Amino acid sequence: MIASVLPTYARAPLSFVRGEGTWLTAEDGTRYLDMGAGIAVNALGHAHPALVEALTEQAQALWHVSNLYEIGAQRRLADLLVAHTFADTCFFTNSGTEACELAVKMARKHWSAQGEDRTEIVTFSGCFHGRSGAAIAASGSEKMAGGFGPLMPGFVHVDWGDHDALKAAVTDRTAAVLIEPIQGEGGIRPLPDQCLRGLRELCDDTGALLILDEVQCGMGRTGRLFAHEWAGVTPDIMMVAKGIGGGFPLGAVLATEGAAAAMTPGTHGSTYGGNPLACAVGAKVMEIVVDPAFLAEVGRKAALLRQKLEGLVAGHPDVYEGVRGQGLMLGLVARAPVADVVNAGYAQHLLTVPAAENTQRLLPPLTISDNDIAEAVARLDRAATALGHG
Ligand SMILES: Cc1ncc(COP(=O)(O)O)c(C=O)c1O
Repeated sequence: MIASVLPTYARAPLSFVRGEGTWLTAEDGTRYLDMGAGIAVNALGHAHPALVEALTEQAQALWHVSNLYEIGAQRRLADLLVAHTFADTCFFTNSGTEACELAVKMARKHWSAQGEDRTEIVTFSGCFHGRSGAAIAASGSEKMAGGFGPLMPGFVHVDWGDHDALKAAVTDRTAAVLIEPIQGEGGIRPLPDQCLRGLRELCDDTGALLILDEVQCGMGRTGRLFAHEWAGVTPDIMMVAKGIGGGFPLGAVLATEGAAAAMTPGTHGSTYGGNPLACAVGAKVMEIVVDPAFLAEVGRKAALLRQKLEGLVAGHPDVYEGVRGQGLMLGLVARAPVADVVNAGYAQHLLTVPAAENTQRLLPPLTISDNDIAEAVARLDRAATALGHG
């Protein structure tokens, strides 16, 4: 008999009842060190007092009103995002997938409004933009899209790192190029800064819009508010989710005025997108994360974690091959099967996240302490020792 919850997830046999900071408590009272943060969602850790307060205050005042009306919390969050990014305007969603849907719609509408037949979206192998029809077509992989056809047409897939194929793929039929500055599900693969700058140039030369998916790598995770800032270029459209809500479902599409100009009343909408609860929490997350001192701390802690991970890899060459990533978005490339490595972590009461390319992801809360960084690496070390000798 099928489970009452549709069995689409390969779940670990762990169930948590409480969270505080970087720690989760399981049903039996065991405490786990959370180096996954809900896959980069709990950016400020679990039950951050300022977020609990923002959510509680909003819950006592107003839960939901339709987007038929002005929503103050939504406007406040949009103003913050516009003030601190390249964007002139934002649309709020409930997830990264929905942000992908709108990003694709916006890019196509941009061209159709000008009477131009530019509908193609160029994407990259290993990408992950969600599980909707547009997002699985964007991925194009058998794993994501197999059996779900016919897929939405118009996606052109390029191998990650193949510059010649990319140049050939971006033409006067291209509406936009869609890319993650650091691939998450694809195995923590950073796009080098010079490649992002080159891509911006290619888009400028051909007129194609540049869509960045910062759902996983954005919101302070790399030590800048958004990862693309390191390269000194800006996109035309950007997808955000995960960390922006700190654990409350929230996503957004940010765009320049030019890219968004065709999205006039009636062209897009959402019942829950930009609801008062999500936006009250999101505004508080933004207030905390945009503080230069907070971002500098992320950078300092990232350097500390990375240094300790290099030591871990050097000490366990049978288990690990190397470290990659940026900021607090790091991947341990494993020699042992990544499922075994992650399970060995569970045995040490440590949560990490598997990804493609046999990579173990570390995406801790940005608020993690130095002590918890040391504790996490000690547990990884014990897990690797157990595996290496196993
Ligand atoms: C880069 C990226 N884009 C999009 C998504 C989809 O976001 P969501 O699961 O909120 O729909 C994810 C989720 O893992 C992601 O990592």
